[in-house]
Amino acid sequence: MTNKQSYADGTISQNEINWLVRRAKGSFGIITTAASHVSKDGQGWEGEFGLYDDKFIDCLCLLSRSIKRYDSLIFAQLFHGGMRAPEHLTGFQPITASRTICKESKSGYTRMASDHDIWRIIQDFTSAAVRCVESGFDGIELHGAHGYLISQFLSKTINKRTDKWGGDINGRSQFLIEIVNSIKNNVPENFIVGIRLSPEIEELNISLEDSIKLIRKVKTMGLDFIHLSCWDIYAPSLQYPKDPKRIAEWITHSIDNLPPIISTGKIWSAEDAQNAIDQGADLIGVARAAIPYPDWAKNIEETKYNPPKAPFSVQQLQDAELSAPFINYMRKWKSFVEDD
Ligand SMILES: Cc1cc2nc3c(=O)[nH]c(=O)nc-3n(C[C@H](O)[C@H](O)[C@H](O)COP(=O)(O)O)c2cc1C
Repeated sequence: MTNKQSYADGTISQNEINWLVRRAKGSFGIITTAASHVSKDGQGWEGEFGLYDDKFIDCLCLLSRSIKRYDSLIFAQLFHGGMRAPEHLTGFQPITASRTICKESKSGYTRMASDHDIWRIIQDFTSAAVRCVESGFDGIELHGAHGYLISQFLSKTINKRTDKWGGDINGRSQFLIEIVNSIKNNVPENFIVGIRLSPEIEELNISLEDSIKLIRKVKTMGLDFIHLSCWDIYAPSLQYPKDPKRIAEWITHSIDNLPPIISTGKIWSAEDAQNAIDQGADLIGVARAAIPYPDWAKNIEETKYNPPKAPFSVQQLQDAELSAPFINYMRKWKSFVEDD
């Protein structure tokens, strides 16, 4: 989870390590880091740690060693912001699948990624994954959700290319597929490789129908998990709002032999967690509940567990191992932090 606690030079900070380690101590089985840029031109915001250079390996080793003291697995989330990587932060004109209006670009437009850019970024994802292996991580999650570069390629709105990287969902998913292939060819077999996807994004014209086709295609690639970012596990599909099936069920009910599925979105209580499992998820992800409740995973064994929801006091968040920049960032999430 993005927490903005790292240093401007891309090094992971002790505050960010402390926040993650506290959740490992609280029995979360998998600790996935914040989205972390694999290329210098892919950074999405300040306080984001980087994976684009070997100089980060020492600090990443410190993180993995600290997490492993508590028997959790540590995954890095590999990310490129594409048109959402601000030029004022990276010094580069944002690139994406096609030339597009872009408020993060000084010129007002993105640059269309050339074939050379695309292969360079595939290599950047691969080198970042190899750095994670060298740093003692157990696996990586490719961030293909939420409208960043991989989803920009999947998007019918952004991706207007007519070459092998565009066209129908087969072409638009080619960038993701080449990243997965390249990573899997360069990491040991027991290194965990999964992807996170948003099954639907209205503004980007990413439809459930295309996501089902995409998952049918990637499920045979030896992925260790597919993580569905549902935002709300109880929400119906945008495409079929009258159908009682929830987003995860559309996938788990229509595709056989899936790799393990992780589902995330508004899971707060033990009942919510059970609901996600009943929808066909093998594992559940939590973000917001893990912020005030570092022992959430330990407590979830209690079937009636349902801790109070936001707002949370600054003191409670400090006690949960959040430093000032993270608490300030959480003020941007509506009603999460109590007013001073
Ligand atoms: C503070 C915060 C930071 C987040 N950072 C990331 C991130 O770096 N990568 C990502 O894939 N999702 C990120 N998300 C989205 C969450 O992973 C999750 O999908 C979403 O918050 C819904 O789950 P929840 O209801 O358990 O919070 C973030 C969410 C929050 C609240």
